[in-house]
Formats: sequence, C-alpha cells, structure tokens
Amino acid sequence: MNVAVVGIGRIGLPLSAKIAAQGHTVFGCDINAERVAQVNRGENPIPDEAGLGELLAQVVASGALTATTNTAEAVAQCDVVLFAVAVDVDHQMRADLGSLLAAAQSVGQGLRPGTLCIFDTTLPIGTTRQVLAPALESGGLELGRDFHVAFSPERLLMGRVIEDLTKYPKVVGGVDAEGGRRAAAFYREVFGGEVYELANAETAELSKLAEGAYRDLNIALANELAQVADVHGIDFTEVAKAANSQPYCHLHVPGTGVGGHCIPVYPRFLMQGAGPSELSALGRRINDSMPAYAVERVAELLDGVEGKRVLVLGLTFRPNVAVTPHTNSVDLLREFEARGAVVRGHDALLSEAGVRELGFEPAEAMAGFDVAVVHAYHRQYAELPWREVAPLVLDARNALDRSMIEAQGVRYVGMGRPVTGD
Ligand SMILES: NC(=O)c1ccc[n+]([C@@H]2O[C@H](COP(=O)([O-])OP(=O)(O)OC[C@H]3O[C@@H](n4cnc5c(N)ncnc54)[C@H](O)[C@@H]3O)[C@@H](O)[C@H]2O)c1
Repeated sequence: MNVAVVGIGRIGLPLSAKIAAQGHTVFGCDINAERVAQVNRGENPIPDEAGLGELLAQVVASGALTATTNTAEAVAQCDVVLFAVAVDVDHQMRADLGSLLAAAQSVGQGLRPGTLCIFDTTLPIGTTRQVLAPALESGGLELGRDFHVAFSPERLLMGRVIEDLTKYPKVVGGVDAEGGRRAAAFYREVFGGEVYELANAETAELSKLAEGAYRDLNIALANELAQVADVHGIDFTEVAKAANSQPYCHLHVPGTGVGGHCIPVYPRFLMQGAGPSELSALGRRINDSMPAYAVERVAELLDGVEGKRVLVLGLTFRPNVAVTPHTNSVDLLREFEARGAVVRGHDALLSEAGVRELGFEPAEAMAGFDVAVVHAYHRQYAELPWREVAPLVLDARNALDRSMIEAQGVRYVGMGRPVTGD
C-alpha cells in the first residue's frame, strides 16, 4: 500500500516510520523543507523520541520512506492519506485550523479517485465533516463517491510514540460510511491491534476531547485537593495513594498547571462548541491559577520574594522532551517577576537561545539561589548537588524524592505537601 503522511512533526514522523517498517511505501509530506531534507538523509530530527533514530535510518535506507514538500504529487500516488498537522488555539483560545486547512487544500489538488483520507489531529466536534472534507473537494472530486474520509485521533505520549502506536485501541469514525469501514480495515492491517469503529467522525472527535477533558479536570481536582491539604498541613501524596487504592478512584498528580499542545488545548475545543462546558472552563481556571499559587507558597516561606534569587529548572512542558508550547515555566517566571524576584532559567534539553526564547535569562551557574523551582524534572537533574543550588526546593510537579533533597540538608516543599520541618 502507498501511504502519504501530511505533517512529519512529533507525531507524523514516528507514524510514517512505523507504517514504512510494516512493509508499506510511505511519503512524508511537510512544508518544512529543512525537515524534509533531514529525513531524506536518514537523520533523526527528534532525538528524544525513543526508537525513532534506528527505525528512521532503516526505512529511509530501504526506500520505504521518502519525504517531500510536494504534497499533491505524493498524494496522487497514494491509497491512503493521513493528516498529522498540528491545531493549536489562537489568541482568542479558539482552534486555529489554518495549517491543517492549508494541508487539506494541498491534498485536494492531488487526490485521485478511491483515496481514503484520515485526520489524526484532535479537532473540535464537526470539523472533519464541515470544514476539512469540503477542503479536500477543492480538487474537483466528490466525497463519498470519489474518495472517503474518517477521523481517527492519535492517543500517544511524546517520547514513546512508537510504542504507543500499537498499545491502545485505535478509534475511528467515518464522515461517510465507507470512510469509517476503510479506516478501520487500514489500521487492522497496518498495526494489527484492536480497532473501535464508532458511529461517525463526530463520535470519534468527542471521544478524544473527552480523554483530554478528563485528564485536565482530574488534574484540577488534584490541584484543588492539594490546596486543601496545604491548609491543613496534610501531605496530599499520602491522601492520593490511600484514595487510589480503591478501584474507582484515579486521582492525578497536582502541579503548577498543565502544558503542551494537547491537554490544556482540548478543553478549549469543547468550550468553543455547542453544548455545556462549565466543567471544562472551571478546570482550565483552576489549573491556570496554579503558578500563582506556587509562587505565593514560596513567598510565604521566604517572607516575600522581592529581590530573591530564583532558579527555574526544566522549562519544557514536561520532563525529558524538548517541547515548549504552553509550558507553565513561563507562568512561573511571570508570577515571580511580578513580585520582584530575580529569576534565572535552566533547561538540560534546550540551548541558551531556547531558554531566552521563553523569556528567561539563562543561569550562569547552578549555585547560590534562594530557591530552586523544579518544573520539568529531566533525568539530567537527578544528581544535582542541591545544597549548592539553593537552601529551598519547590517541587512544582511532585516529581522528586523529598528524602533525597532533605538528606542534603535542603528544605523541600511540594504541591499539597508540608514544607520540611513543619
Ligand atoms: N504531540 C503529542 O503528544 C500529541 C499526542 C496526541 C495527539 N497529537 C495530535 O497530533 C497533532 C500534531 O502534533 P505534533 O506534535 O506532531 O505537531 P508538530 O508541530 O510537531 O508537527 C506538525 C507538522 O506539520 C507540518 N505542517 C504545517 N503545515 C503544513 C502543511 N500545510 N502541509 C504539510 N505539513 C504541514 C509542520 O511543518 C510540522 O512539521 C496535534 O495537533 C495533536 O492533535 C499530538
């Protein structure tokens, strides 16, 4: 089978490599010419993606995967087209479909009769049918008669995309009935795992938004309960462990918010659509308030943070991946600076320019601060001499072993966790 993957970013590239490794011919299409050239040289542009380097080298060398900037030409040779172009929110917090729509129009120009198009990018309900399928018709073919469309969300964690691609059931829903049936057959053939064929594309779109909203709200609940724990001097990690020992409770981990272009974004897709979304909005509000809460906690412990030297460690949105959209480290920076603190940033995965791009002044040395805030606990930070770094560590995601910090004579405070000595 010939398959085009449009958008060879964090999701599309591992997806392309995996499908190529299953014995199919894959064209990776992207408007980023540098990315295309790099892939065609067999170089891995995403080094923190487990297993991608080896797989990519192998499928490029065998000729199973080639990258191109000419989407229409590639699509004209393909039986199936997958879309993995990102959709983020605009400044009004509504889905910005610009890139994906442009990609659909390019595909429309190359589409041949009989092609199946599958949208993998998470979308507001109704977008596949009402916005993207009509864009595919721009080349003159008719949906349902000449070509078919389905929505099938990616359910993957950055850093372990290749493993996750075959780990969870694939969810599909057709815009036209043939689209749904063929998408289910495609995934059964390519990945061999379980496929949930839902009633239609809208059902599949909502299923993905439901996953995201569940996680965002669950984190909001953990954040609210962590604040209750703080009021009472209770350690929330003990509370969650006890509560989660019963099978109906799945409390998540509190922290200084939710980052990345998935979890904080998908509730917004519900909030912009028809139907109630009070809970989604409330969850967003609680999670967005957490950086200010964490800074207030530090201010209480240090008797104010004006003039205090603060080091934020790990600026990416989560540990061990070099990805920064919607990272809460910038919210921590804003909150500390608003209170007059002197903030420096460090990230083991970002260049100095990358650190500056987020608005941080890079730390000259990892020593001599009043407080170290561990935002993304990259594995490179495991052996830090904490005593030299700062006398107080704020564990912004409850990711550290507090006994390791305290054994070095450093005070520890987590989210919903009593400070050392209290
Ligand atoms: N990253 C995740 O963890 C994750 C997890 C699950 C689902 N998803 C979904 O996958 C989508 C893609 O995420 P990503 O992290 O791979 O994004 P990304 O930004 O890493 O990659 C998107 C790629 O699309 C390319 N592109 C943009 N416009 C194009 C066009 N007109 N034609 C061809 N290519 C174009 C970009 O150059 C880029 O390489 C997300 O929006 C999300 O819905 C992501």
